[in-house]
Parts: sequence; structure tokens; C-alpha cells
Amino acid sequence: MSTISPRFTPPSIVPPSRPLGRVAFVRAFVRNLLEVVPQAAYEEDFVALEGKGAYRIWVTSPALIKAVLIDERDKFQKLTQIRLLRPLLGKGILTSQGPEWRWQRQASAPMFRPEDLAGFVPTFVRVANDVVGKWRAAPNATQRIDLDMTRATFDVISATLLPAADASTFERTIGVFQKSSGWSQLYAATNMPGWVPRPGFVAGLRATSALRAAVAKMIRERRESGAQHNDLLQRLIAANDPETGQSMNDEQLIDNALTFYLAGHETTAKALTWTLYLLARSPYWAAALEDEIARVTGGAPIAAEHIERLVLVGQVLKESMRVYPPVPMMSRQCVADTRIDGHDVKAGASIIMPIYAIHRHARRWDDPNIFDPERFSPEREALIPRYQYMPFGAGPRVCIGRSFAMLEATTMLATMLQHARFEAVEGHEPLPIARVTLSPKGGMPLKVRCN
Ligand code: HEM
Repeated sequence: MSTISPRFTPPSIVPPSRPLGRVAFVRAFVRNLLEVVPQAAYEEDFVALEGKGAYRIWVTSPALIKAVLIDERDKFQKLTQIRLLRPLLGKGILTSQGPEWRWQRQASAPMFRPEDLAGFVPTFVRVANDVVGKWRAAPNATQRIDLDMTRATFDVISATLLPAADASTFERTIGVFQKSSGWSQLYAATNMPGWVPRPGFVAGLRATSALRAAVAKMIRERRESGAQHNDLLQRLIAANDPETGQSMNDEQLIDNALTFYLAGHETTAKALTWTLYLLARSPYWAAALEDEIARVTGGAPIAAEHIERLVLVGQVLKESMRVYPPVPMMSRQCVADTRIDGHDVKAGASIIMPIYAIHRHARRWDDPNIFDPERFSPEREALIPRYQYMPFGAGPRVCIGRSFAMLEATTMLATMLQHARFEAVEGHEPLPIARVTLSPKGGMPLKVRCN
């Protein structure tokens, strides 16, 4: 199962060669969004599919992506995503647009300046060591790496950007949302009114209100304590809307705190989970990383000054997010007839940017299904066009946490590899499933040996 060659083919989805019929489409949509991405989206730039009442366009070329996310962005709005996530995230930074979005982004941005992030490295190391400690307590056991990474990245957010929160309340809500997310995404994508019942809807409402109440309590406690903290919540409390001069009310604070708790950990957890799996399958790269980490650190804990020199660790993480992008799809809705890169697009069309397929596009990548971190060697990475590789999106709505996430993932991965080796479980070849993030089907059990 594992390989000593530097390149191998990890599990991937076989796309449907013909557009799916209505029933097959709904079934696939609910089971795994990746199964509805047509084969043509892996081969062409622009694939328009007109069904009953729905007009979907898959765009994959750098020129089209640039048009949608940057040059013509006023005509492409985040309506589907907003409809899907607003019940949970209200009108926070991820789920608002225009001036309402802009000032929330400006209020949050100072927390993410690359030059200020280095101070978080010791926290990333501590949290990674906590996970290793848990693995050490059960020598050579099979561990649920997906669950461990989710808990660890949640601990990171709670110890860096926001106040400590009860992880289990979040885990419950995320579980409920993941379970019903196929249906919710289908409803959002087909403009079904919010009140139409769907599987998991009531459980979702209950979990949402429990989670919002927990965050409200935390914000109240912060306000009442009067203590000064240098974290994101403090910045949000202190920020003013330049147009109205008003600060955020409690609802807006809850919206944003929740957004950062959720957007800030599930994604990085998936990047680490898939990377550990790929390393378990690739002893060649696992050994190369171990050597590099030992050479750069001399066995000392990872420190900020090591990060730039962990070149191979960075290459593996980037290639891992190419084959398994934590956010596998992005979408926008066209709000005015327009023409992009020679293609007409009608108002009302759903524009889907399938990051998963963009990263495996047959005309843009050699052997796209093969895991090959050499693609991201410094010389070769420089030749990859912008918008051909985009795990963090692009344009003004690009992920605000991308530098934080890369620093966190690099530090945590290197720390785990200093102390542990990972082996795939015989017979478990996890297929990627697109829920909100890209999950391994059946979870990610790996055997862990600590030194
Ligand atoms: C490997 C980890 C991560 C990945 C792959 C990722 C991916 C993305 C993507 C693709 C978007 C753009 C969505 C769109 O335009 O439709 C996005 C937005 C966002 N991300 Fe991340 N993200 C990661 C980590 C983080 C972290 C660590 C944080 C915060 C601590 C964060 C916070 C956000 C926020 C707030 C937005 C919305 C930004 C806006 O609309 O202005 N993300 N992320």
C-alpha cells in the first residue's frame, strides 16, 4: 500500500462522464458534492449546464476565475453561501457583502499581519505536543487523526485569536451541520425558501441556538470582566463602522466570533489530516521531511526562525492542499448579464469554481492525480499561474487567515513529525467527500508510533 517512490496516486473521485439526470444529481449532491462535478470540468474552461430552473456554470481557467473574483466581481455575489450559512453565522465577515463586509474585514485584518503572527508559534508547538502526549499514552495504537486534528486546531484558535471555548459544544454543532449539509447545500443552490423542511433542519436549529448562546455568554463575560486582551475579540469589540461610527452590537460580535472559530479550525484540521495520510502512504516524503526538520532545528522545538527553512515541509503541505483542498468548491451567483473571457453569462446563473477539479485540471497539470510535492519546489512553483492553484480562494474575499493557517500547519506538522511516525491502516483508502470541507470517507484512522 505504501510506496518508496517519491510519486504515487492517492484515492480520488471518478467524475461522471455525462451530465447526471435529475434523480441521480440529487442523490449524488446529497451524498458527496464532488460526485456532481462533471468530467468536462476537469478538461474544459467553461462548462454550462442548463437544467429545469437551474443554470449552472463550472469555471476553471485562470482568466475566468480572475474575471469572477476580481475584474467583474460586482456582478458575481456570494448569495448561495450566504443563504446556506446565515442561519449559523448571521451577518459576520464571511456572510455579508458590500460596505457591511468591508468594515468587518478592515477591523479583523490587523490581527493577521504576517509579521505579527510569529508570536503564535510557541502556542502551535504546545498544542501539537499535547496531541503527541495523547498518542504516547497508547503506544502504537490506531488513532482517529481527523478527530485529533479538529480538536487540536480548535485549541489553537481558543488559545490565540479568541477566548477559550468549550470544544464539545462546537463539535456537536459541526456534526449536525456536516450530516445535513448535503441537503442544506442543495436547498441553497436551488433557491428553496428557508422554511421548507429538510432532513436535519430541526436538529440544526437546536444546535445553532445552543452554540450562539455559548458564544454570547463568553462575550458577556469578556465585557463584564473589563480586562484588556490583545486578541481578535478585543479588536472586534473596539472597532467602529467608518460609515455609521457605530461599534458592533452583541449579535454582530457573536456572528464574527463564531465565524472565526469555525472558519479558522475545520479547514486547517483537514489540511493536516490529509497531509498525515499522504505521508503515511509515502515513506519517501516522510523520511525527507524528518531529515529536513532534524537538519534545520537540531532537535530543538520548532521556532519562528525555522519556518522559512522548512522548504520541503511547505512543499508537501501545498501539494496536499492541491490534491485534497480543504475547501473543495467555491460559488458565486451572477446578478447581471455579462460577458467574461468571451463567454456570455446570464443573470441568475450559479457560477461554481470547483477548486478540487481546478487543482486536477488535465490541461494545466501533468499527471494531476499523482501526489508529487516536487511541483512546489521553489523553481517550479514560481511558474504556476495565479488562480490555477487557489486553496485559499482569490481576490478581495481571499481567506483572511491564510498566513495564519500556513504558519500553524507548518509548525504543527513539523512538531508532530519530530515525535511520531504514521502508518496507513491496511484496507482503508479514504475517498474525499465534499461536505462544507473536504472530509475523508470513514474518517482517518492511522497507526501512530512515537519515539
Ligand atoms: C488550510 C486552512 C484554510 C483554508 C484552505 C481556507 C480556505 C478559505 C477559502 C477558499 C476562502 C474563500 C471563500 C470564498 O471566497 O467563497 C476563505 C475565506 C475565509 N477564511 Fe479561510 N481557510 C483556511 C484557514 C482559515 C483560518 C485559520 C482562518 C481564521 C483564523 C480563516 C478565516 C476565513 C474567513 C474569515 C474567511 C472569509 C473572508 C471574507 O469573506 O472576507 N480561514 N478561507
